[in-house]
Amino acid sequence: MSASADMERARRLVRGAGRVVALTGAGISAESGVPTFRDAGGLWRNFRPEELATPQAFARDPRTAWEWYDWRRSVLAGCAPNPGHRALARFFLGRGAAGLVTQNVDGLHTRAALEAAAGRAGPESGQAEAAAGPAEAARAALPVELHGAVGRDRCNRCEARFPAEPLGDALPRCDSCGGLRRPDVVLFGESLEGDVLARAYSLAERADLCLVVGTSAVVYPAAAIPLATLEAGGSLIEVNLEDTPLTRSATVALRGAAGEVLPALLD
Ligand code: OAD
Repeated sequence: MSASADMERARRLVRGAGRVVALTGAGISAESGVPTFRDAGGLWRNFRPEELATPQAFARDPRTAWEWYDWRRSVLAGCAPNPGHRALARFFLGRGAAGLVTQNVDGLHTRAALEAAAGRAGPESGQAEAAAGPAEAARAALPVELHGAVGRDRCNRCEARFPAEPLGDALPRCDSCGGLRRPDVVLFGESLEGDVLARAYSLAERADLCLVVGTSAVVYPAAAIPLATLEAGGSLIEVNLEDTPLTRSATVALRGAAGEVLPALLD
């Protein structure tokens, strides 16, 4: 089938769907300048994650592990949401129902959601919504973050969460209990948080359509989430530059950059 016929078919699936879930991966942020994990030039080709992104690394040499995350944060500080993030934010805000699930820890979906909600908040927006604050107005487009958020710290001891701060001479410590902080992300060898995974599965199981964007679909359990939609009788649209293990299960596979395909598909 031609690319334009695939796009038309995918647009019909979107128009006809009641509930929609979207699962995104590093590919959606590639056009924002955030390095992916497994492509040429991806993060893990240049750095050895087993040395930097593990609980053992934080226990053995927290300074080096922190310096690497501090560098990642500095890269992200220069990145902004791209048309792919913005199209998804507008889509879920417009539907008024949450459905966005991401493996990314870069916070760009959250930024796009807040920006899209602020853009909608004109004089016609309800006073109650305005009074509830920006996060409430953006709620439908805020993602379930399967792997956490690099822009937050978490205490290793008491689990308290804090906004990230630049790394100083001393390692960051918990304001409440004095324990060492770590980035609030899932490290290699760690399990995902049960309630976060349950929320993602619940969205996928109830969806008529799953949109999978910019993920190599090889890291579990995230890669199994679209299967929950398929098993419940729903459809699957994949947006990626290339084939993945999910492609053979996709109802429609759209080949192209997320920042171009998503606005064409969703707006
Ligand atoms: P990967 O780096 O494994 O895969 C990125 C995917 O995005 C590839 O399939 C690319 O073809 C595709 N891609 C690249 N640029 C794109 C673009 N502009 N538009 C559309 N697609 C594009 O990243 P993930 O699948 O997200 O986990 O990796 C999953 C997990 O592996 C990450 O969350 C991370 C890592 O281990 C943790 O850190 C826990």
